[in-house]
Amino acid sequence: MYERKIGVLTSGGDCPGLNAVLRGVVKAAEKLNWQVIGFRDGFEGLLQPPQYTTLDHVSTAGIMQLGGTILGTTNKGHFVAKVGSGEKTAVPKDVVENARATLAKLEVEGLIVVGGDGSLTTALQLYEQGFAVIGVPKTIDNDLEATSMTFGFYSAVSCVTDALDRLHSTAASHKRAMVLEVMGRHAGWIALHGGISGGADIILLPEIPFEWGKVAEVIRRRDAEGYQSTMIVVAEGARPEDGNQQYQAIEGAEHRFRGIGDVVAREIEKRTGKETRCCILGHLQRGGAPGPIDRILGTRFGVKAVNLIQEGKFGRMVSYQHYEISDVPIADAVHQLRLVDPTAQLVQTARDVGISFADE
Ligand code: F6P
Repeated sequence: MYERKIGVLTSGGDCPGLNAVLRGVVKAAEKLNWQVIGFRDGFEGLLQPPQYTTLDHVSTAGIMQLGGTILGTTNKGHFVAKVGSGEKTAVPKDVVENARATLAKLEVEGLIVVGGDGSLTTALQLYEQGFAVIGVPKTIDNDLEATSMTFGFYSAVSCVTDALDRLHSTAASHKRAMVLEVMGRHAGWIALHGGISGGADIILLPEIPFEWGKVAEVIRRRDAEGYQSTMIVVAEGARPEDGNQQYQAIEGAEHRFRGIGDVVAREIEKRTGKETRCCILGHLQRGGAPGPIDRILGTRFGVKAVNLIQEGKFGRMVSYQHYEISDVPIADAVHQLRLVDPTAQLVQTARDVGISFADE
């Protein structure tokens, strides 16, 4: 007989490391003789009739190395708290009450929400309405405030690095410019880290609007210097100084970004005459096995979330700061996104190794 019952759900876009969190939650909970209920498909599983499964050491054995989430997830549905370009919206009252009734009926004493900015905004709304919620920060974008890293990010960076390694050889063989479009609607962390690690020549970020003339200048200069090819990494949310971001508006959800890579490739050909191709990495960045950093971070986050329930510290989010796992108010994490500071040391380091952001 278990002493307490807690719940966990994974919400928003999936990312590598979610299963490591679930496994960490279960291991820490079972040590306390607590039972873990895993709600399916994000917050949707809380609606009556609830969709859930009991998670234990048997059902979570061998899941750490799996991509995705065994619970399923969604970034749409009844609990969406961010739409468009990240504007807040309130979860309807009847939906909140429906979820409250589910948790009461199942006698769930604490709910761990594993999610990014949108899902943690929902979690905060629930907490403010009396739910016993703990947040765990997840996103490949690494753009959550109040934690210096989210799990999923380094697995995505590793995917970008691998893609650039592969694209280098084909670009050099054909003496082409190669544009790689990577994820990052608002924050360019994946583009910045992946670009540096994969040896990009130009990185275009949402935080640093670029000039077409500068992009063309770098390519012409490299050709004159005898380089065979030029590698350009562009975050999906990047935009030229005199132009717009490329996205599709989606009813009741956040905008879907895609297409800036092709725009950049076409403009390079027009301005320089250099043959250019574009590769959109897309959801490959979100899939597959988590790397070691994300497995470890996910495990640490899962365990800490259980510790916080034990301490009754609801409304808090686990956070990675200075190599340690601590906790912060969820509210601190969702009031704004953590963006790349154009004056940051890493941006300067990139410039010092000759990477251009096409802005100066
Ligand atoms: O927030 C994570 C993220 O992967 C973004 O980088 C990307 O723009 C978005 O989710 C894609 O969402 P979807 O899976 O709905 O296409």
